[in-house]
This record gives sequence, structure tokens and C-alpha cells, in this order.
Amino acid sequence: ETLKVVTLLGSLRKGSFNAMVARTLPQVAPSNMAVNPLPSIADIPLYNADIQEEQGFPATVNALAEQIRLADGLVIVTPEYNYSVPGGLKNAIDWLSRLPDQPLAGKPVLIQTSSMGVIGGARCQYHLRQILVFLDAMVMNKPEFMGGVIQNKIDPESGEVIDQATRDHLGGQLTAFADYIARVSIKA
Ligand code: FNR
Repeated sequence: ETLKVVTLLGSLRKGSFNAMVARTLPQVAPSNMAVNPLPSIADIPLYNADIQEEQGFPATVNALAEQIRLADGLVIVTPEYNYSVPGGLKNAIDWLSRLPDQPLAGKPVLIQTSSMGVIGGARCQYHLRQILVFLDAMVMNKPEFMGGVIQNKIDPESGEVIDQATRDHLGGQLTAFADYIARVSIKA
């Protein structure tokens, strides 16, 4: 059976290196895993309980939640902003956390950060893990992926990761994620 995995992108910009990492995942995923992108988080309004009460959840949030619910696993692909989680990504998670039927509760989650710095967004990963504790998500511990100096590992023309060691690392992590999903998922 094919595992359905969806990617949530933490960067909003057109030329995002993290978007290029996410775009590479279907090429390096194990044969039993289908990887598809979630809709952009760019148009989600800033969380405001008044919007929720007066207009209900934004359609963008409902669409995101629905696709996460249908997926066997979620991969969060994101840059690090100021040693932490980008505001847009945190905002999307904040909205998702208010839904009555929480899409992230018990969901297998994989974190991938990439940045132009050598540490590859490591500090963001631990803040993101802390947020996901409250959401009761099942975040895989190891192996980790921190794509350092990512600008040297991609081909701007194709918009994909071309560095072979990085591709192998990403593929290996997705294979481990497939095993992790099998171990922690409780199918209805
Ligand atoms: C950054 N960048 C960055 N890099 C890093 O390694 N640690 C950090 O704390 C930060 N902080 C930070 C804050 C803000 C507001 C911006 C805009 C950028 C640099 C970041 O890694 C770089 O811009 C990446 O290219 C962003 O990822 P995308 O958009 O290419 O996916």
C-alpha cells in the first residue's frame, strides 16, 4: 500500500530553497511513498479569535486540515528565522491547533530545515518540536535533516537539489519515515 505524505512549506518566497528541497522529495522517496505539496500558507490571515468566531475557519485552513487528515504523514520543510520558526508557519500551526478535530494529533511528522548558514536551521527544529508537543503530533526523532549552505546544493534552473550526498540523506530520511509511520500509526 502506498503511503500518502504531504509537505508543508514554511517559506513564502518564489525562489525559496526550501521549496526546492520539497520539490526534490518525490524523486528520492521510497517506492511505497507518494509525496505531494500542501496548498501555500501565504494567504492564511493572522490568527485572530474574532475571525474564527465571526466567520469561522478560513477556507485555506480547512483545506490544509483536510489534506493533513487524509495523509499518513506530514513533512514540514522550512527555513529558520531568527533562530526559530518563521511567523507564517507558526501562524498556520496556530490556526490548525484551534480546529475541534485536530489534524495534527497523533499524526506522524517529519521536520526538514534548510538555510544558507552552515547549521542548516537546527535551532528552528527544536522550537518546532516544542510547538508540536502541545499539538500531540508524533514527531520522528532520527535521522534529522539540516540542509546547511543549501544554496550550493541546488540547481536554480531545475529548482531541485542536485548535490548527491544531500539527495541520499533526504531519501534515507524518508525511508526511515516510512518505517516510523508503520510503527506509530493506528489505522481505524
Ligand atoms: C533568515 N535567515 C536565517 N538563516 C539561519 O540559518 N538562521 C537564522 O536564524 C536566520 N534568520 C533569518 C531571518 C529572516 C527574517 C530571514 C528572511 C532570513 C536566512 C535564511 O536561511 C535564508 O534567507 C533562506 O534562504 C530562507 O529560506 P528560503 O526562503 O530560501 O526557503
